[in-house]
Amino acid sequence: MKKTFLLASLFLILIVILVLKQGATPSWTHYQKEYFIEQISKLQVQLRTVNDEKKKEQLQLEITNYQNRQPEIIDLILPNGKVERCKTCHIGIEEISNSHPSNTLGCAVCHGGNPLSLDETTAHTQMYGGSHPGSLDAASLSCGGIGANGEACHAGNQERANNEVDLVKTSLMSTKAGELSVVRRMFGLDKTKDVPGLTKGEVAFYYPNPLQGRPNEKRFKQDCLSQCHQSGGNIPLPTNYPQSATAQSQEQSSAKGQIQGNGCETCHILTNSTHTYIGDDTTIKADNLNHGMIHRLTTQIPYTQCNQCHNQGNHDALKMSFTIRPDMAKVVRDWQTGDATWTDRLSDYYLPSEIFAKCEVSLDCIDCHTRQDVMGDDQLHTSQNDTVHLQCLDCHGTKEKLPLTKKIENPQDLAFEEQITNPQFPALHIGDQILMTAQGEELPFLRHNEGNWIQSSRVTGKSFKIPLAYGSKCQQNANEQGADSCHKCHDRSALHY
Ligand code: HEC
Ligand code: HEC
Ligand code: HEC
Ligand code: HEC
Ligand code: HEC
Ligand code: HEC
Ligand code: HEC
Repeated sequence: MKKTFLLASLFLILIVILVLKQGATPSWTHYQKEYFIEQISKLQVQLRTVNDEKKKEQLQLEITNYQNRQPEIIDLILPNGKVERCKTCHIGIEEISNSHPSNTLGCAVCHGGNPLSLDETTAHTQMYGGSHPGSLDAASLSCGGIGANGEACHAGNQERANNEVDLVKTSLMSTKAGELSVVRRMFGLDKTKDVPGLTKGEVAFYYPNPLQGRPNEKRFKQDCLSQCHQSGGNIPLPTNYPQSATAQSQEQSSAKGQIQGNGCETCHILTNSTHTYIGDDTTIKADNLNHGMIHRLTTQIPYTQCNQCHNQGNHDALKMSFTIRPDMAKVVRDWQTGDATWTDRLSDYYLPSEIFAKCEVSLDCIDCHTRQDVMGDDQLHTSQNDTVHLQCLDCHGTKEKLPLTKKIENPQDLAFEEQITNPQFPALHIGDQILMTAQGEELPFLRHNEGNWIQSSRVTGKSFKIPLAYGSKCQQNANEQGADSCHKCHDRSALHY
């Protein structure tokens, strides 16, 4: 009798627990409700600024729709029949890009995880690279993986240029072979530029022994290699960055300073100066550092993105120290608001002591530095000079020679792929003449047309007429084509201060 009573009570308790559990609202309903509320308040702000009655009516209708909307499970059904439910919580997440539409690609192709789960922990287990699928550790699975249609994405293709994941891993910015080589030579370890033991595709942070037991070995790894590193390393935050200023303690300050360069994302996901997310996904909180501004890939990479690492200050390789540029506060302010004037741009772009021609500021870094310059050319270079293919003469020619051109004849030409990166580009047609670097890399955003040499910015879409050295009053020496010799006469930096 006693036993039966005990069993019955246990059974009852079990039922009560089950009922309670089912009754508790699942977390995704909160995220969705938060999203509806945020959308409503955004629409209400719009409503206040609109005068047109029709538009007002439409906005009011949208507001009512959100007010009446009930949370529900969102099943993303992919063309291959697979179902993904990530958007049930991440209802507000932006489309990552036009060429990666979520209704055909889904989320798991880049993120991994368990897309059927509606539980936060299970859904996120075994994600590729956590919140950074683009970090170089994870990129082979995410960017370099296999798409839903069975096709190879950015690795494993026949065409080498389409294997960005493999290329980027060998690029100088990933291997840091230039820095390794300079430091090793400076400390007398090598006479040549070689970096013994560094293998193609290996990133420098894992390079076992950059200074081979010298006293500075640890410091070099900690202060130099792990800084600005593309994968696993930190981007240093100057003391006057907003989040350093709001840190309450030393500990918090260093915790807040953990901004990392994450492989492909470092360039292709735009960040703001606080490295925080400002998009519509309500699960990602405003003070959660180390995120891009919104969930959006881009190839229109402005100079400020490159300058998260470049032009931040001076490196002293002998002392192994780094001094932040003195005008950093202004640079960060302008990054936040956008350069208001040409003078702002001129002073923010390079370090105060640097010399440049006008185009080195009016254009963005990627208007000059080609894919191969930036994402690698499949060679293991060990110095910046060997790596940079681009020269001033590729655009300006010399006193004797016009810039190299190529007539587009093949519809399969890689140039067609590159030109779509900015919708504002003048469309490329068969028969068009594009410029080429001396190394043979195509510059589809530079065109030659009836005596005009026109460049369209990859970032802004703005067109520039390229002045040629050929036929000009330029006093250059034909054999001195390096930027340093041109800068002796073509120096616009006097406008700096
Ligand atoms: C083409 C690859 C790709 C696809 C497809 C993709 N993401 Fe992402 N996602 C990324 C990258 C790259 C980041 C890192 C962004 C950053 O640095 O902040 C990211 C970041 C995120 C974040 C963190 C917030 C942020 O922006 O930093 C969330 C949440 C997220 N993704 C959810 C999703 C969901 C849900 C889907 C499907 C609807 C999806 N993603 C589809 C590449 C992708
Ligand atoms: C049950 C709700 C829920 C589901 C389902 C869910 N997520 Fe999340 N996700 C969250 C929450 C909440 C966060 C914020 C966690 C935090 O800040 O610690 C988050 C964060 C993320 C992040 C950023 C991680 C970080 O550390 O900042 C990514 C990327 C992400 N989710 C992707 C996905 C993908 C891909 C799926 C589907 C496979 C998915 N999520 C399914 C609730 C969910
Ligand atoms: C995460 C930090 C980081 C970001 C972001 C970054 N770079 Fe670099 N870059 C470096 C470092 C570090 C080196 C030097 C590596 C060496 O010498 O070993 C370098 C070298 C270079 C070089 C010379 C060597 C080469 O690979 O051609 C060029 C050109 C260059 N960067 C252009 C760019 C452009 C353009 C962007 C933006 C689209 C950019 N970088 C963004 C860190 C970065
Ligand atoms: C240092 C900056 C930088 C990094 C890191 C980087 N990219 Fe790029 N990427 C660029 C630039 C610059 C372009 C050229 C933009 C253009 O064509 O207008 C580009 C273009 C692309 C394109 C478009 C190609 C086309 O035809 O326009 C793809 C795809 C791409 N990158 C993938 C990747 C992947 C995958 C990674 C990581 C393995 C990566 N990128 C890392 C700077 C970078
Ligand atoms: C007008 C075209 C142009 C623009 C814009 C430009 N560069 Fe360069 N860059 C060059 C050329 C040309 C060289 C090779 C110079 C030479 O002849 O030695 C070069 C060289 C470099 C080098 C190799 C080391 C050195 O200083 O010689 C780095 C690193 C670099 N650029 C980064 C950048 C970054 C980062 C940006 C944007 C902040 C940028 N460049 C903007 C044309 C440009
Ligand atoms: C990718 C093409 C490209 C490269 C590479 C390039 N330029 Fe230019 N350059 C331009 C364009 C476009 C203009 C006109 C835009 C402007 O003046 O703002 C220009 C303008 C100039 C001018 C006339 C304006 C002035 O500064 O007085 C000079 C001089 C010049 N460039 C020198 C150089 C030098 C030196 C280099 C190498 C460090 C270089 N350019 C590399 C495209 C390029
Ligand atoms: C000894 C000084 C000197 C050197 C070195 C020099 N230039 Fe010039 N360059 C000039 C002068 C002077 C002009 C004519 C300026 C004018 O017409 O206003 C000129 C004109 C030009 C122009 C045409 C600008 C225009 O607005 O029409 C370009 C482009 C140019 N130079 C590029 C270069 C490049 C690239 C180099 C390096 C390979 C170089 N210059 C080296 C002095 C020099």
